[in-house]
Amino acid sequence: MLQHAGLVLNDGTTLDDLVMRNSNEVSLRVMTDKELYSHEMERIFAKTWLLLGHESEIPKAGDFIVRDMAEDNVIVARGRDGDVHVSLNVCPHRGMRVCLGEAGNKTIHQCIYHGWAFRPNGDFIGAPIEKEKMHGNDIDKATLGLKKARTHLYGGLIFATWNVDGPSFDEYLGDIKYYMDQLFCRTDNGLELLGPPQRFIVPCNWKVAGEQSGSDGFHTLTLHRSLMEGGVMGGTAETIYDQAPGMYGVDVSCAQGHSLRCLEAEKTFKMFADVPFEGKSVVERLNLLTPPGITKEMIPQLFNNLSADQVEQLATIPPQVGGMFPNVLIAFIFAPRTDGGSSGALALHTYVPKGPDHVEFVNFIFAEKDAPEQMKRDMLQNSIQATGTSGTIEQDDADVWPVIMRNARGAVSKHITLKYQALHGHERPEGWKGGGLLYPGFTKDDTQWNWWLAYYDLMSAA
Ligand code: FES
Ligand SMILES: [Fe+2]
Repeated sequence: MLQHAGLVLNDGTTLDDLVMRNSNEVSLRVMTDKELYSHEMERIFAKTWLLLGHESEIPKAGDFIVRDMAEDNVIVARGRDGDVHVSLNVCPHRGMRVCLGEAGNKTIHQCIYHGWAFRPNGDFIGAPIEKEKMHGNDIDKATLGLKKARTHLYGGLIFATWNVDGPSFDEYLGDIKYYMDQLFCRTDNGLELLGPPQRFIVPCNWKVAGEQSGSDGFHTLTLHRSLMEGGVMGGTAETIYDQAPGMYGVDVSCAQGHSLRCLEAEKTFKMFADVPFEGKSVVERLNLLTPPGITKEMIPQLFNNLSADQVEQLATIPPQVGGMFPNVLIAFIFAPRTDGGSSGALALHTYVPKGPDHVEFVNFIFAEKDAPEQMKRDMLQNSIQATGTSGTIEQDDADVWPVIMRNARGAVSKHITLKYQALHGHERPEGWKGGGLLYPGFTKDDTQWNWWLAYYDLMSAA
């Protein structure tokens, strides 16, 4: 029997009424409910690891960026020690925001209200007129710093959590790390962010965007059909709906709710490669179809940083799109160049909650640090053309998400349930080397349902 969850809303609705684990349905009400939203802030966004940016944004001591961990504003700064620190951007004196900028370099962050000052690592320096002790006599100065989050760098990506005693970052990633490493930890000098992220507000709940990032491959066939008809997913306008090559692969997920869609390179991206791959070595395959963002010269670096099995997967059935629970989308995709090749597009999004009805869509665009300048320019162009709400792919999503929200407000419509009943059931393909929950074949609802199960777990935890 399923256990009764420990979350009950004021009207008596339980978590089990909203996320129905017996029937694989979710009430549309979850997208608008204000009370549920405030529980999500406490139980999810104050508990899990959240992506804030990339260390290439703050290379020097004193460099800082200001970001949001859901509704909590934080300063992400490089300290004198060279480490990255994440501190709550709320003055412990009377609650003013300490840093009012978006990015820059400062050795001291001074609050404009009464002048309390803090180091980039959040430590309290003092209040003006030191001899008057304007911080009082009761509290030790050492404890008057900004509240500090626990920080972790992964492939240069900056993650932070308020849950200082909770799971480590590796525990949070779980079995998906093997696959994520193939995207974020594959080269000697790693990734570089191409300029500050694009940021815009979309009028939808964070979960509308978040659950799609749980590897909803199916919507690509219909909503993003221009992508299919344009021939960049291995088919043509004539063949795409009966053959749908971009729909087949191995979807991977794990109990933590993260997922990735791995697509067979020679079937899905044959317009970029001299296929078939049969009889060709891993290195030959990599040379025929270099992974998005990688040059032929960088191929030896893959072997320096990944296991032979990981490189083989990257050459044969690479992870392409997916997400990290709760609010990250990953799109490390092949993207055509006008000369017929593919330099790829590497984009990450965070969907930062801004109340139950709005999300800030933050679009990070990357290239490998070692890539040639021309390739970086191509990749920036590809990513802007394809991603973000003005991109050819994601403007489709920005059309749909707000309409779902309008429906969720209707007295009758809000009782509709979201259905996750097209399930494959996990199954290990022969010879598959990585771990996790594996779903080979046509992309179905499994990984998205796992996303909701991860949501359920966190929301039901006391
Ligand atoms: S609120 Fe910051 S110094 Fe008073
Ligand atoms: Fe989409």
